[in-house]
Amino acid sequence: MEATLSLYELFKQKPIGSRLRVYGWVRNYRSNRFIALSDGSCQAQLQLVIDPETLDPETLKAITVGAALRATGDLVASQGKGQDVEIQVTELTVLGTSPSDEYPLQPKKHSMEFLREKAHLRMRTQTFGAVFRLRHHLSFAVHQFFHQRRFFYLHTPIITASDAEGAGELFNVTTLPHQQAPTDDQGKVDYRQDFFGRPTHLTVSGQLEAELGALGLSKVYTFGPTFRAENSNTPRHLAEFWMIEPEIAFADLQDDMDLAESFLQYLIQYALEHCADDLAFLDKRLAEEEKQLPKEKRQPMGLLERLRFVSQNNFRRVSYTEAVDILRQSKPNKKKKFQFPIDEWGVDLQSEHEKYLVKHFEAPVILFDYPARIKAFYMRLNEDENTVRAMDILFPGIGEIVGGSQREERLDVLRNKMEAIGIPEDDLWWYLETRKFGTCVHSGFGLGFERLVQFVTGMANIRDVIPFPRTPGNAEF
Ligand code: 4AD
Ligand code: MG
Repeated sequence: MEATLSLYELFKQKPIGSRLRVYGWVRNYRSNRFIALSDGSCQAQLQLVIDPETLDPETLKAITVGAALRATGDLVASQGKGQDVEIQVTELTVLGTSPSDEYPLQPKKHSMEFLREKAHLRMRTQTFGAVFRLRHHLSFAVHQFFHQRRFFYLHTPIITASDAEGAGELFNVTTLPHQQAPTDDQGKVDYRQDFFGRPTHLTVSGQLEAELGALGLSKVYTFGPTFRAENSNTPRHLAEFWMIEPEIAFADLQDDMDLAESFLQYLIQYALEHCADDLAFLDKRLAEEEKQLPKEKRQPMGLLERLRFVSQNNFRRVSYTEAVDILRQSKPNKKKKFQFPIDEWGVDLQSEHEKYLVKHFEAPVILFDYPARIKAFYMRLNEDENTVRAMDILFPGIGEIVGGSQREERLDVLRNKMEAIGIPEDDLWWYLETRKFGTCVHSGFGLGFERLVQFVTGMANIRDVIPFPRTPGNAEF
């Protein structure tokens, strides 16, 4: 019997002259003779050439865009343009028909908004095939990078009682009835009767637990789903996203920045090496999209050029204080073009400011030493007692892609900080004990995986780099 090959294997081996069996979905069908078949295993489509005389009329009629097929035939060098091999079909079975007047994915350009509503089918398109193959390869590269450097993959809980970031963007987890939840003497919901005996929610970060891991295993990382109930309908925010959080003992902020920079460069380099076909497709796609935009909105580099640039050039490291000076003196600030004008030291930076800085330096930027007031409680206080050893990495077209810091390792300083902002010691007694017993300098960061996939694929909206996006008002599929 003939061998069955995925299209990926077929194009890799190109066993011209062999009889083969292939499976896939019809992308296009023309002249009653040429079928463009895709099975999602690679970017390339396979041309099947059929002889209408040899197929029964029922089968012929059922070959429509979207139908699932099995085909057997001989692989030959192609006579036509656009492909170097094709299959001369001897046997063809339509496994699943696709009523052509109803199939939403016709061989023409569809908008991303339209395809989001067809998320159950959009993985059959070339664009989404490329995006999700890249997403896979990037996940794999994440594990490879850390594995090679002897970091251990730590699975941190998804249900938790602590709010690491303190931003209050929590999805509660409870089994108490919505109506008539049990109450205590003060008339408040009595969580002692809840499943875990206390209020719990979906995690906003695995960091606190990753710190516990690093303070025993030295180098760990997490890679898991993360949930934030922030009501921001932007092209950069999801309510459910994936975050990678390495944490390293005996490492300060410099080490942390070095690790983050080499990690990002490794991932991008990995994609360039392993996903060349998909990136070439996405590069062309983005170039066409950009043509529709007014000149000032276009990115200065094409996708591939940008990826090479970022993977080969050092990131610029700039303190928050320097950055605020630059922003204060900037044209858009003086001309009141920023929605949030920068007038004093200490303000939080908005995405318009981050984008300005990346443009200004024409490179990814690592901002460090932020005002303590605008950052989370666990970041290490600097000697000036005003700033913390925090760092954010800003990427072209994306803005913040990484947030991290050196952690406060001094028990008394951490206690005071928690008290000042009202975090009860009882909630985090275990976290504090790691500072009591064998504390040490340690650091880590979080990379938003979808923002990375956005950067690498050039997709404008974060909803288009996760298979089934969760955003306010949106949990279909
Ligand atoms: O800056 P964030 O909030 O940092 C933390 O959670 C730290 N605990 C990380 C650490 O030090 N271990 O989030 C980290 C990154 C952001 O830079 C961004 O890329 C991504 O997570 N992110 C989101 N991505 C998609 N949708 C959202 N709503 C996101 N919020 C944060
Ligand atoms: Mg952040």
